[in-house]
Amino acid sequence: MVVEEIGDKRFSRTITEKTIDQLPDGEVLIKVSWSSLNYKDALSASGNRGVTRKYPHTPGIDASGVVEESRSDAFHPGDKVIVTSYDLGMNTSGGFAQYIRVPAAWVVPLPAGLDLRESMIFGTAGFTAGMSVMALIHSVPVDRGDVLVTGATGGVGSLSVAILAGLGYSVTAVSGKTTAESFLKKLGARKIISRSEATAGHERPLLKGLWAGVIDTVGGEILASAIKSTDLQGVVTCCGNVASPELSLTVFPFILRGVSLVGIDSQNCPMEYRRKVWQHLASDWKPALLNDLCREVTLDDLDSEIELILRGAQTGRIIVRMES
Ligand SMILES: NC(=O)c1ccc[n+]([C@@H]2O[C@H](COP(=O)([O-])OP(=O)(O)OC[C@H]3O[C@@H](n4cnc5c(N)ncnc54)[C@H](OP(=O)(O)O)[C@@H]3O)[C@@H](O)[C@H]2O)c1
Repeated sequence: MVVEEIGDKRFSRTITEKTIDQLPDGEVLIKVSWSSLNYKDALSASGNRGVTRKYPHTPGIDASGVVEESRSDAFHPGDKVIVTSYDLGMNTSGGFAQYIRVPAAWVVPLPAGLDLRESMIFGTAGFTAGMSVMALIHSVPVDRGDVLVTGATGGVGSLSVAILAGLGYSVTAVSGKTTAESFLKKLGARKIISRSEATAGHERPLLKGLWAGVIDTVGGEILASAIKSTDLQGVVTCCGNVASPELSLTVFPFILRGVSLVGIDSQNCPMEYRRKVWQHLASDWKPALLNDLCREVTLDDLDSEIELILRGAQTGRIIVRMES
């Protein structure tokens, strides 16, 4: 898929034939089997220069596939691998293509317990959910109380709900979709609340301490209200800004309740920690219903899926079949 600027801030998306030598230099050439759609891909695919500076460009921040050529001793032809994060699909030709060529330092061997398709049901969204869960469970034991997940039907949100519920946490999900209840209950959410319930009383500096922990994927007023509603020693993780990048707060949740706010940056996560998160995703954190969390599409179908995710209207994960 090539995204090109065709006029004043107007961009086109076409499926085009290119040759391997048009790919950027890198130690590992990978034949892509699967990719996936993340919110960031939709931004890159629609000309957002905060994500992608130069066009024409091939988006796709996620890819899984098989090594075809390698100049690195760490990888050999035939190895099954995952590439997410770093610069893939941002300013490096990405996973919405049959091949990627990347530095060896970006490549993760497919962990035992996952196949290539499953690894893309997780993709960057699931990896980010994994990093958020890791930060939360470090300080919040299962019996401490309810955990809130915002943007719950989205990629990061739905996988966070499923992983936390699988670990035995009592999860309350915030969703703007009135039809989300059966999907979220199936993933293991105990309770579903609306965005307006999640922000009730938001003008006050502190609210009743309801949550032992929070995984926030949306930012803005929902995140601010979640922090104000977090109980003593609670942990709140923050990874996204689909609602807003603003955060309007006082210091009171931090100095009167010992609440911690943990930033989640999957893009620059160090490789050792990255492999640890993938190991958990492939084993003790792998949701039983992983396959129910996704819809499968091809490159030809991606246009309408991109428009849906930009409107916040996707549910779960979209995976892209690249192999025939
Ligand atoms: N920091 C990192 O490393 C990292 C990694 C991955 C993703 N992210 C960020 O995390 C966020 C979520 O990514 P994603 O791939 O999960 O996106 P997604 O699949 O589009 O999910 C976002 C969800 O947020 C909710 N939402 C959408 N618009 C909203 C609004 N205006 N107000 C409140 N809620 C809204 C919707 O869920 P409901 O309808 O259920 O409310 C939507 O499904 C994005 O901002 C993305 O850039 C960050």
